[in-house]
Order: sequence, then C-alpha cells, then structure tokens
Amino acid sequence: MDQTFSIIKPDATKRNLTGSINSFIEKSGLRIIAQKRIKLSKDQAEKFYEIHSDKSFFSDLIEYMTSEPVVVQVLQGKNAVKKYREVMGATNPENADEGTIRKLFALNVQENSVHGSDSDENASKEIEFFFDEKEIVG
Ligand code: CMP
Repeated sequence: MDQTFSIIKPDATKRNLTGSINSFIEKSGLRIIAQKRIKLSKDQAEKFYEIHSDKSFFSDLIEYMTSEPVVVQVLQGKNAVKKYREVMGATNPENADEGTIRKLFALNVQENSVHGSDSDENASKEIEFFFDEKEIVG
C-alpha cells in the first residue's frame, strides 16, 4: 500500500483543528497509520524545507513552522501522494477547490493548514525524517 507524509501546521493546531482535518483525511479513505504532535526546532524546520532556502518567503516560513506545535503523520492508501494532494487542495487557498482542507481552513498561502509530500520519493524521505520504523504500526 502507498504512503505519504502529512503535517498539520501551526495555524491549524493553534485553532484546534487537528480533529477536523483528521476527519477529512479519514473520510477520503486514507488511513492515519502514525502521528505525533511535536514542536519543530529551527534546525529541523530549516532542514525539512531546505529546498525552499533560496525563496523570499523562507525565513517567514521557518518562523511560522516553529511558532506552535505541529502534528506529523504517515497516511496510507492507494495512490496516497496524489490522493492527499487532492484532499488538501492548492497551496494557495484562493486557488483551492471547494471541499478541500485548504479551501475550508487555510488562512493564506503560508498559513495553509497542511503539508503533503509531492512525490513517492519525497514521501519516503519525509517519513524517514520524522519517524522511526518502529513508530509506524499500521
Ligand atoms: P508546503 O506545501 O508545506 O510547501 C512549502 C510551504 O511554503 C508552503 O506549503 C507554504 O506554507 C509556504 N509557501 C509557499 N509559497 C509561498 C509563498 N508564495 N509565500 C509564502 N509562503 C509560501
């Protein structure tokens, strides 16, 4: 079965939306097979978002991602990466389809409530970054 990596971001944990977002995920048919609530360190956030280090929004992104706890998750299901990206909606909530997590909950392009991997290769890397094999119990 395919897997993807998800983060419920600070704007969402702060507004007590973890359960509402998990409900969206589960209704879509994806299964939450691992999750933990953590506070990202600056070092972790910088490493995780290294690919965006040359972007103008990088320092704001790091400040935001370390501002409140996040919930990191492993989601499992058929075509999990593609499926979760559909459930999340577009990065910018202004462009997100009706019925998606970001359309309903995201505040703006940065505080966009959730992260999901963009490929199977990145999903494996991102899962490994946050979870030990023994933490993923199915
Ligand atoms: P995410 O899918 O986690 O990937 C990178 C993150 O950077 C993105 O969600 C947003 O939180 C943030 N981001 C992307 N584009 C912008 C932008 N144009 N301005 C500010 N933040 C952005």
